[in-house]
Amino acid sequence: MADQTAAGPRALIVGASRGLGLGLAEQFAERGWQVTATQRSASPDLEQLAERGVRIETADIDDDMSVAALHRRLDGQTFDLVFVVAGVATESDNPLHAVSRAVSAQVYLTNAVSPILFAEAFADTLAPGGTLAFMSSILGSVALNEDGGWENYRASKAALNTNARSFAVRHAERDYGILLLHPGWVRTDMGGAEADLDVETSVGGMIAVIEAFAGRRDVAYLDHRGETLAW
Ligand SMILES: NC(=O)c1ccc[n+]([C@@H]2O[C@H](COP(=O)([O-])OP(=O)(O)OC[C@H]3O[C@@H](n4cnc5c(N)ncnc54)[C@H](OP(=O)(O)O)[C@@H]3O)[C@@H](O)[C@H]2O)c1
Repeated sequence: MADQTAAGPRALIVGASRGLGLGLAEQFAERGWQVTATQRSASPDLEQLAERGVRIETADIDDDMSVAALHRRLDGQTFDLVFVVAGVATESDNPLHAVSRAVSAQVYLTNAVSPILFAEAFADTLAPGGTLAFMSSILGSVALNEDGGWENYRASKAALNTNARSFAVRHAERDYGILLLHPGWVRTDMGGAEADLDVETSVGGMIAVIEAFAGRRDVAYLDHRGETLAW
């Protein structure tokens, strides 16, 4: 693995107050990674991980000043993984025409624009052979959209995929890889109680995929089992 030190590789997990981000921070720490994890506001669940060596930071990816302040606080650190997990699914059950323009725009900004702006700000923190990961979704696949539903969210994740590919082209000389990950359908606040997977299973799968991806420099759209998804 790139930049493997005696103390273990380093991960920055963005959006770890609950759900998948919290699970990733916990399991990466258990596996010996040095984890820095962010919350928007105080998360007692995340703060418990400080006892296990996780560095807790604060950032709102929709706020440029907050992102810049985080970058300053982490000055000089490099990461083998920067993973932007944060996302929203506001009014996701409503068809597009039943969602206000303001809500549609905010979902697009948080899910498709802010992760890329975060990546621009933190590209200089990625260690050679490291990975820049974005939490996408299978719903972001244009090719696989045969059932509809979650229209605005779906479009925002498709836009995230496209924006990440544009980022990859813009950073063609980079020495790190770019992953768009689908975690499966997972029982979180967003995924709901009926979802297929618990957080532990999804996160365990994603960590295996990320560790296997280390050292690659291409762009991949994979699920938590490592299966390639159609764009
Ligand atoms: N659960 C699923 O089945 C599923 C499937 C496919 C993809 N995903 C994706 O996986 C990611 C995590 O989802 P989840 O299921 O864990 O959802 P969740 O439980 O609703 O957690 C969402 C996380 O994103 C954070 N967040 C939202 N907006 C943010 C912002 N502007 N700045 C910083 N953090 C922000 C939240 O922080 P606060 O606590 O401050 O709100 C929270 O930590 C999302 O990108 C989601 O789209 C989930």
